[in-house]
Formats: sequence, C-alpha cells, structure tokens
Amino acid sequence: MAQPRFRAPRGTRDILPPESTRRRELVSRFADMADRAGYGQLESPVFEDVGVFQRLGPDTDVVAKEMFELHDRGDPPQHLALRPELTASACRAYVEHRPTPPWKIWYEGPQFRYERPQAGRYRQFSQVGAEVIGAEDPAADVEAITLAVRFFEALGLRGVRLLVNSLGDPADRSAYLAALGDHLRSHSGELSPQARATAERNPLRVLDSKRPEDRAAVASAPVMIDHLSPAAAEHFEAVRAGLDDLGVAYEICPRLVRGLDYYVRTAFEFAASGLDVAQDAVGGGGRYDGLVEDLGGPPAGGIGFALGVDRILLACDAEGAFGPSTSAVEVFVVDVAGGAAATKLCDQLRRAGLGADRAFGGRSMKAQMKLADRSGAALALIVGPDELAAGEVTVRDLHGSGRQYRVRLGDAAEAAWAELAGTAPGR
Ligand code: HAM
Repeated sequence: MAQPRFRAPRGTRDILPPESTRRRELVSRFADMADRAGYGQLESPVFEDVGVFQRLGPDTDVVAKEMFELHDRGDPPQHLALRPELTASACRAYVEHRPTPPWKIWYEGPQFRYERPQAGRYRQFSQVGAEVIGAEDPAADVEAITLAVRFFEALGLRGVRLLVNSLGDPADRSAYLAALGDHLRSHSGELSPQARATAERNPLRVLDSKRPEDRAAVASAPVMIDHLSPAAAEHFEAVRAGLDDLGVAYEICPRLVRGLDYYVRTAFEFAASGLDVAQDAVGGGGRYDGLVEDLGGPPAGGIGFALGVDRILLACDAEGAFGPSTSAVEVFVVDVAGGAAATKLCDQLRRAGLGADRAFGGRSMKAQMKLADRSGAALALIVGPDELAAGEVTVRDLHGSGRQYRVRLGDAAEAAWAELAGTAPGR
C-alpha cells in the first residue's frame, strides 16, 4: 500500500469508531454525574489571550515550553494560545460574567501541550473536569475530590490511588521555600545537573524529579506540611476528616507537587496502578485561591480537578474495565431486490426509534449478511424479490436461534420492536 501523503500531526491521533463511541460514553457518564451534583457545563473557547495562561507559572514547563502560541490576523495581531488546561479559562469566564458564587461548573474537551509524545502523553489530549469557584469551605474540596473518586468507581476502576497534600498559603510557602532551598544547596553535590538548575529557579519542582540520582536529597528534604500556618493546617485537617467521613481512601503524599503554579492548600492527584509510572496520573487538581484575583476579578477561592480521558481509557484497558460499548444498530436491512426497499425500510425503522443500518451498492446476499453480523445488529430484515412481490419482509434473529418468519412490510418496525423486547409471537 502506498504511504499516505499526510498523517495526523505528531502527538495527535484520530480516534476511530468504536473507540470514539466508548470515549463519548465515558464523557457522558461524567457529565451525568456532574450535572446531578449541581454542576453546569462550561463551554469556553479552545484558544485564549496568552495572558490568561501566564499565571499557570512562567517557570512551569506547561507555560514556558509547551504552549501552542499563535498570532491572529488583527492589526495589531493578538497573541493567543491554544488552551493547555481549562482552570484558567474557567476563572477568566468567572471574571467576565460574574456569576453568583459558588459557581459550580464542569467541562470536557481537547487541551494542547507541546510535550514529547509517548504512550499516554499526547500533544492534543482530552480532559473532563469540574471547578467550584467562589468557595473557600473545605467541604468544597471534599465534594470535588469525591466526585472524581466516585467517577472512577462508576467506571469500574479499582487500581486508582488518591494522593493528597497541602501546599499551604503563599506566606507559608515562602518560609518553606527558603528551608527547601537551603536543603538543596547543602546537598547540591548529590543532585543531577538538571535538578541543580531547577533548584535555583523553582526548588519545589525538584521534589518532582524522577531521576534516581536525586532520590536521596529529595527523600531527606523538608516537607511543606510541616510548615503550614494554623489556618492552612486547619483546612487540611478538615479536608482529611471530610474524606474519612465518606470512607474515601487516600494517601498523604508530602512530596506531591503539581505541574502548575497556581495551587495553594489542597493538592491531589490520582495514580493508576495499571499504567507506566511516568504517565500514571489519570487526573489531578487542587485549590487555586488567588487565581481569579490575578485575572482581575474579586477575591474568590476555587477548587477543582481535571481527569485525562486518554489515560483513563488506557487504565480501563489495563484493568479490563469499562469495555467497548455495544452497537447502536439493532436492525440490519438486507435488500437483494434492488435497494429501494432498504431506503424506505431504514427510514421507517429509524422514525420508529430503532437503530437501523443497511448495505449500499447492490451487494450479494452473502456479503450483506456478513455486514449485518459485523454491525452488531440483533435482527436482519431481509427483502428479496419474493418478499417484495408479496409486500412482506423476512425477520431473522441473528443472535440466538436464527429463527425467521415473514411479516407485512408496513408492520416491520412493530415486529422488530417485539423481537428485540422478546415479546414476538412464537418465542
Ligand atoms: P494536570 O495535572 O496538568 O492538571 O492535568 C490533569 C490530567 O490531564 C493529568 O493527570 C493527565 O491525566 C492529563 N494529561 C495532562 N497532560 C497530558 C498529556 N500530554 N497527554 C495525555 N494526558 C494528559 C490540570 O490540567 C489542572 N487544570 C487540573 C485542575 C483543575 N486543577 C484545578 N482545577
């Protein structure tokens, strides 16, 4: 076969059926759970003014190295970026529309990060997520975390661990960063050159290092939860108590740092045991009090999370959970009498609410029956010259007995419904 001239760009891929149906079902499950917990959907643009994302941290990889930036055709051109995540967009929308707090929203859709592609890491990937903006109450943290936990449970995933930490308030952070900086400087001889450079710019991120040579210095480093102010410690305590009350299992992970800089107090991540450790985060989130104000809004706390749809599905594959969806085609029309009957019959069946499909191009009975099997339909409605002459159609059960009988063409939809419901006469 000739090589195609064009392929999907590096780090992106086509999601084909039936996998696309499975993804849609996953998103729709999330949407349903979020809707029923009082969250409404936010649909925001896929690109924003680049300034919206700058607060994610000028030193973070997401902003400094991974943003897809573009200039539009305006005069002067506007500097835009494809969204690398949705929390900043949600806060921008909150500032723009000033909804009554707490503003509980959920979202889904593609995000863009110019990362080195590998299994579970793409340049275009999909997230589902939820945010509560305008709530400082630790009960909001508990609600958001629990929503994600219950979603994983509903998918049938068993191997997802919840890791939680507190990153304190900005004032606690500066005292802690000084202590961490001192520690890393006194151990700089043991650090990798990369970690040494990172330590100067952003010591917190060294805790995230996956390099074996950094392990010892990271293990002995001071941790944030020992440097919390009384208010931040009390908040963390309340979040933990809330999770305990609900029986939500979690691990306190004092070295958990997130790849985005806006977090204060609660930070959490979900790790899937079925995935390679480098890409085992199937979701993450935390509190971002201060982000709304940074974007020009009123003081408002915020808490939320985003889950990676691509990685969740990989984790489901690894665990054999949330399998492929069943076919939406219930009836396959096999027409060996010219094809005009199939056109009418499919329309009749679809209007009666049945999932119906057919073949095109006047193919043989055998070829059409093969397509009928492949479609996943439970029934075939067969129209041959005999049936056509008699104004009838043959109903054939494809899944069970293979039994077949004729009904009048006009009664085809009713017969199909009865057959699918198991109430057809003679069963
Ligand atoms: P994040 O940790 O950057 O957080 O991303 C959340 C999830 O998106 C990750 O755990 C992962 O499953 C998925 N993900 C991230 N990058 C990729 C990639 N290149 N390929 C595939 N999947 C990926 C956020 O985005 C925050 N906005 C979460 C949040 C909401 N915090 C507060 N509210």
